[in-house]
Amino acid sequence: MASVATDASPQTEITRSTHNPLGLKRLHHVELWVGNAKQAAFFYRNAFGFSETAYRGLETGDRDLTSYVMSQKKARMILTTPMSSEHPINDHIVRHGDNVQDIAFEVEDADDAFEQAVTRGAKPAMEPHDLEDEHGAVRRAKIHTYGDTVHSLISYRDYSGPFMPGFEARDLPGDPTGLALIDHIVGNVELGKMRTWADWYSDVLGFERYITFDDDDISTEYSALMSIVMSDDRQVIKFPINEPAEGKKKSQIEEYLDYHNGPGVQHIALMTPDIITTVTKLRERGIEFLTVPDTYYAELTDRVGAIREAVESLQKLGILVDRDEDGYLLQIFTKPVVDRPTLFFEIIQRRGSRGFGQGNFKALFESIEREQALRGNL
Ligand code: FE2
Repeated sequence: MASVATDASPQTEITRSTHNPLGLKRLHHVELWVGNAKQAAFFYRNAFGFSETAYRGLETGDRDLTSYVMSQKKARMILTTPMSSEHPINDHIVRHGDNVQDIAFEVEDADDAFEQAVTRGAKPAMEPHDLEDEHGAVRRAKIHTYGDTVHSLISYRDYSGPFMPGFEARDLPGDPTGLALIDHIVGNVELGKMRTWADWYSDVLGFERYITFDDDDISTEYSALMSIVMSDDRQVIKFPINEPAEGKKKSQIEEYLDYHNGPGVQHIALMTPDIITTVTKLRERGIEFLTVPDTYYAELTDRVGAIREAVESLQKLGILVDRDEDGYLLQIFTKPVVDRPTLFFEIIQRRGSRGFGQGNFKALFESIEREQALRGNL
């Protein structure tokens, strides 16, 4: 299982600087708390092509939690379910449904990062502590961010195991779909709270405002939203934060907040170097995507100019394109992957552009609104 052990450092490295007061090194993993981790692992392995690379549960001596570590190239997600009705994770699942609970960072020094974060205004979620097993020790602390979401701060000492102490290596390979890393993670917050949380990422993590979209950029007849993208100074970790804006009917962000019972992660964007192959495989395996009308493709070349991909191939798969001064990007959004209209995924390929597909927002939101109307929530 050497292939598992070498995957202990996902995502691109961030350098320490005055803009990186917590000493963040990289996004370590994203953890979802779910009602049935075994079936969720089956879904992410067989549909998305993740490999199951580590596990904890009754067989490894854990009486409280069962967790599956799902990896594809540098993208890593953990699926965790509680084993008893008394476990506090149950309350989270009842309240929010299956969703992201932890966006975990690897840091240079968990104690230092925690102290810095709290000094800078973060609410502590878990004091620094050791996690140990026969493979060595890891130091971990947690701070609260929006809603019931936390950021773990993890530093390695002498750990050489498959993931974290308490986990055993698993070698259940998926058939990869080409997903390579987590590009960005989007949070939805309440009306009036977007700037508060953008300031929080600036004050606590030293992030900078990368792009701002207001309701002139992002509005349709019915719903609108505002968004600020916060990023570390090397733009390795990007966190767009959305809040609802005044529209004629319920915005997609309000629908999310209603069903999620408050702020939380709206979508995880997974990057691929070949979106046509990735989306072809995901569609074959049953993943459902939002669709745009054929008029979108009739106008595409006029809007974005020459691109390497054949427009017919993109149209067949429903892939969207947007261009900015740096280049272009290709993207597509899944329908929610849970029963509540909450968490979904974006698949993104970047050909120079570092943006988020602003030119697609209108077509996309009209598509989301068609789905909202089918749910009786518009
Ligand atoms: Fe996105």
